[in-house]
Amino acid sequence: MARPNTLIDLRSDTVTRPTAAMQAAMAAAELGDDGLEGDPTVRRLEALAAERTGKEAGLYVTSGTMGNLLALLTHAEGAAGSIVMEQTCHIMRVETGGVSVLAGLLPICIPGQHGAMPLDAVERAMRPKSVGGGFQTRLVSVETTHNVAGGFPLPLDHLAAVRAIADRHGVPVHIDGARIFNAAVAQKVGAAEIARHADSVTFCISKGLSAPVGSLLCGSRDFIARARPYRRMVGGNMRQSGVIAAAGIVALEQMVERLAEDHARASALAKGLHAIDPRFVDPALCPTNIVRMNTAHTGMSAFDFADQLKAEGIWCGPYADDVIRFVTNRHIDEAAVAAAIAAVERVFARARAGRKSA
Ligand SMILES: Cc1ncc(COP(=O)(O)O)c(C=O)c1O
Repeated sequence: MARPNTLIDLRSDTVTRPTAAMQAAMAAAELGDDGLEGDPTVRRLEALAAERTGKEAGLYVTSGTMGNLLALLTHAEGAAGSIVMEQTCHIMRVETGGVSVLAGLLPICIPGQHGAMPLDAVERAMRPKSVGGGFQTRLVSVETTHNVAGGFPLPLDHLAAVRAIADRHGVPVHIDGARIFNAAVAQKVGAAEIARHADSVTFCISKGLSAPVGSLLCGSRDFIARARPYRRMVGGNMRQSGVIAAAGIVALEQMVERLAEDHARASALAKGLHAIDPRFVDPALCPTNIVRMNTAHTGMSAFDFADQLKAEGIWCGPYADDVIRFVTNRHIDEAAVAAAIAAVERVFARARAGRKSA
């Protein structure tokens, strides 16, 4: 089989390239030194981010990981304590231990359902004081949309209930909202309706919103003022960063509503895979731009299946032994979705034929 010249890249929404409007805005950006007097374009982006999340202030950071880390450092304030979060969340699974190594927090991890921690478990995990039973709870963190849960947005009443528990214990709440705008579009609310259930929120402009670099941490004016020195501490102090922040302004002004197209494509992909074999995926569990396809019944590992898909021109991420993740994004059109479905069908047919002849 000849390898196709170009790959359809469904690994992540981070592969999105800046739009022409972003490139124009980057070229025209008014600049300053953000480590000295401040960069006016960065300030505009931070103000816009704060407005969109309904918070008082924003802080431009290099990545979602840095945004989350600054939130952890700022909430923990160097005191020993624990953080309650869902066990497969990005902070726990991917951010290489910054939660403990740098922020000094002990993770108390709760298994979730579609990314949502059971409320009774959240309640039980709360520790008002550092006593024999464990460290005092310093923070509750939730993730929406939840990446490993297949891009599931946490229901708003769930967020409100988590917030109520945390409030009762005097504990702040952080939202890792790397894809909060996907959640907002899917839930047909503004991002502020989601973020109002938390004291701080991180979101990424570098994912489906197509900006090349960066994320925003938003919260109260006081919280962001306390987070700023931590950004310097971890090497996140930038200079003429208005060059990249300019693309972020375009991302927030022009790229949010179109996320619905990515969701429609993910839904079409999930339905197509389901039609091949319902065991691949339940389309009802793909409400945003992430499709997690199960390969357990194919007799192939996700890694082998993904290798064969790549040979067919479809680039995707094997996520675990039997899960492949597809993420739709601005560069994935209907034809790309159809090509992905057809490639899965071919690889699966070969796997079945191989099993029969073995
Ligand atoms: C839920 C979630 N949080 C945080 C991040 C971290 O973002 P970054 O890659 O910009 O550090 C990601 C990245 O995929 C994510 O999916």
